[in-house]
Amino acid sequence: MAENFRKSYRFAYLSSSYITIASTLLMGVFLYTQSHLNVFFILGYSIVCYAICFVIIQYRVEKFIYRRVRKIYDDIEMLEGGGTIDDSPVTTDMRTLIKEVEKFAKQRKTEIESLKVRETYRKEFMGNVSHELKTPLFTVQGYVLTLLDGAMNNPEILEKYLNRASKGVERLIYIVNDLDMITKLETGDLNLTYTNFDIVELVQSVFDLFEMKAAKKNIALTFDMNYTSPILVHADKERIQQVLSNLVVNSIKYGKEDGTTEVSIEDLIRNKTIVRVTDNGEGIAQAHIPRLFERFYRVDKSGSRKEGGSGLGLAIVKHIIEAHHERIYVESDYRVGSEFSFTLEKVKKFPVVDVSAKTT
Ligand SMILES: Nc1ncnc2c1ncn2[C@@H]1O[C@H](COP(=O)(O)OP(=O)(O)O)[C@@H](O)[C@H]1O
Ligand SMILES: [Mg+2]
Repeated sequence: MAENFRKSYRFAYLSSSYITIASTLLMGVFLYTQSHLNVFFILGYSIVCYAICFVIIQYRVEKFIYRRVRKIYDDIEMLEGGGTIDDSPVTTDMRTLIKEVEKFAKQRKTEIESLKVRETYRKEFMGNVSHELKTPLFTVQGYVLTLLDGAMNNPEILEKYLNRASKGVERLIYIVNDLDMITKLETGDLNLTYTNFDIVELVQSVFDLFEMKAAKKNIALTFDMNYTSPILVHADKERIQQVLSNLVVNSIKYGKEDGTTEVSIEDLIRNKTIVRVTDNGEGIAQAHIPRLFERFYRVDKSGSRKEGGSGLGLAIVKHIIEAHHERIYVESDYRVGSEFSFTLEKVKKFPVVDVSAKTT
């Protein structure tokens, strides 16, 4: 906003002209009635009158506008949180002022709009959080109250209900952890620790982690081929493990009995690798795909479905991948299966390895 404004003399120039014309006419009439009409005198008079009017009007206008307009500028500056406007320019140019104020108003409008969007987002978020927490909380409360009501006297029921309550607490912790993660990701608090690691090994360890879960539905966790040599990538290992876990867990949760979850790792372009997690599960209808990565978005809205997630899994996945400046893709056919894939940066091979690189 601290900009040098053009001085405008238009107002003083026009006003002085009007005053001069009027006063010269009056003077002319007066001199005429006194029979003293003298062209040179009239001419001299009009020039002097014009000059005096011009100076006074310009001076007054500048003073007046300086005080008031300056205050407007200062207020605007204050609102913008910037420094104060520099002292030199005094403007009588209303057009510049109007332009500036319009610009200011437009900026404020966009700002307010984005704040409104954020506010709805926040409200929605809070609503979703409490909704997600309520279900497991009530479950736990239900079991505990039943136990307190006397059910605890039956050792069998006691153990069963305690187990169920514990499951509910586990779920609460799981949701809170997801929330914690997403908050960190969204506020940019999460610093990535880049290392070079073998992605094949990481996928294998995620398979091992969810082997039991997969076995319950008789789902096979496999690679598309036998990866004999390591494939080194450059990323945050822990976060990528989280990505893989979320994708693999989804493929199991939304997979069919006796199904398969297959992971493939391929070269994409020179310095990129693409990891695909494919399943032959229930698939996702096209209509849901654009919103899939939104927080709390779930295809099956009824929170009571057997596979209770927080709906945050894919939002976290997307955040992590984007924090790496990589891409995530999804392809899915309803009732056929889904494929989630993401890119990673390959570790540049050293010249020594280059010779054998041709064979891979
Ligand atoms: N592999 C998949 N197959 C079918 N549907 C899936 C798959 N992965 C995710 N989805 C759908 O996307 C939704 C969002 O997934 P996610 O963010 O992980 O939430 P959550 O698993 O907690 O429900 C899920 O509710 C599910 O309907
Ligand atoms: Mg999930």
